[in-house]
Amino acid sequence: MYTTSGIKTPYYLYDLDLLRQTLDEARQAANQHDYHIHYAIKANNNPIVTGIINDYGYGVDCVSGSEVMEALHRGFPAEKIVYAGVGKSDDEIRQALENDIFCFNVESLEELQVIDEIASEMKKTARVALRVNPGVQAHTHKYITTGLDENKFGIHPSQLQEALNLCRSSQWLDFMGLHFHIGSQITSLQPFADLCQRVNEIWNEFDITSMGARILNLGGGLGVNYEDPDNNPIPDFQSFFSVIAENLKIPEHIKVHFELGRSLVAQCGNLITRVLYTKKGVDKEFVITDAGMTELMRPSLYQARHRIENISNSGETCHYDVVGPVCESSDVFGKAVELPVTRRGHLLAIKSCGAYAESMMLRYNMRARAKSFFKTSGKISPISQCKGGESITTEEGQFSRVN
Ligand code: LLP
Repeated sequence: MYTTSGIKTPYYLYDLDLLRQTLDEARQAANQHDYHIHYAIKANNNPIVTGIINDYGYGVDCVSGSEVMEALHRGFPAEKIVYAGVGKSDDEIRQALENDIFCFNVESLEELQVIDEIASEMKKTARVALRVNPGVQAHTHKYITTGLDENKFGIHPSQLQEALNLCRSSQWLDFMGLHFHIGSQITSLQPFADLCQRVNEIWNEFDITSMGARILNLGGGLGVNYEDPDNNPIPDFQSFFSVIAENLKIPEHIKVHFELGRSLVAQCGNLITRVLYTKKGVDKEFVITDAGMTELMRPSLYQARHRIENISNSGETCHYDVVGPVCESSDVFGKAVELPVTRRGHLLAIKSCGAYAESMMLRYNMRARAKSFFKTSGKISPISQCKGGESITTEEGQFSRVN
């Protein structure tokens, strides 16, 4: 059992060995096809996590000026930073240009015009890829579907020619190629095959090669297994990249880039929370935890289900509605969850919280920021450089806290 007396729950617990294995596998699989991966830093911006990702040589995919500046500050090279987002402000564009990022992923005709104007004022060349909304169904939750007509992302193919014309006529725009991202937590490879077919069509129809394109960025979206994370800790990157290689028909000299977030980090993190109370409902029993939607928003926002384990007890089981303390009825981690008999004081592990948990943390109800702890067999320099870290001992080993 965990001997965490004195350690304040809830907290995020990251397994850095699993993170490294995942990064290794993804990199090896991508290298076989000479593909480039940018880490979508929105998935998890914890400095220890991003430090390791940077050590592995990944680039970074940003969606705000702050992410760009923070990525630079943390040592990601500017020439590996791509920057998407439907609402880049003038200041954000200016800052990214000043810092010579690799490429803007441009999401509208008007944004392209503004980038052109700002680049011309600054007498700087803006490298741009045009994000196209391809109308491909990702078969995932509607809130994380991005490639359909109803979604705000990307340029509709009907406006692509106008955008290409502007790139051709402007002396300040350097057209790099096309960008696509159809959604997140995509668990079948078929949508990626469909995306490639659509990319092939668009590439030919608009004669993108003769526009001087050098890159194609296919975004992210590869899903993870939330139902059985222990048996599926690392996504099948080999099959993912193979499906792309089999279906993509564009000239060989075009470099293919990806922006993977969740698939790289989701399984290496758990959220550890303590049971504050149990309570009898009319036809159910509630387990009330000290973590809530403020530490893991995914269930309340997307009806997502994360595996929950009682790490203080085993044996006979009951069904519980596991809920948080926040004043919202949607603050529910799971309904009728089967757990070993659960009591006040027990610790629960909510699994697969490495992606879109800590980075989406809220301060609603004036909740305190949850801390992060790290489990590793190897030494990581950011931890050793950090002063005043605490450590906790559990049956699984020694963890360190650094933030
Ligand atoms: N590229 C772009 C342009 C994106 O918008 C995203 C994610 C990614 C790459 C990375 O996608 P990934 O490989 O992580 O699927 N908060 C939601 C997920 C939102 C994803 C937003 N965009 C969740 O918790 O499920």
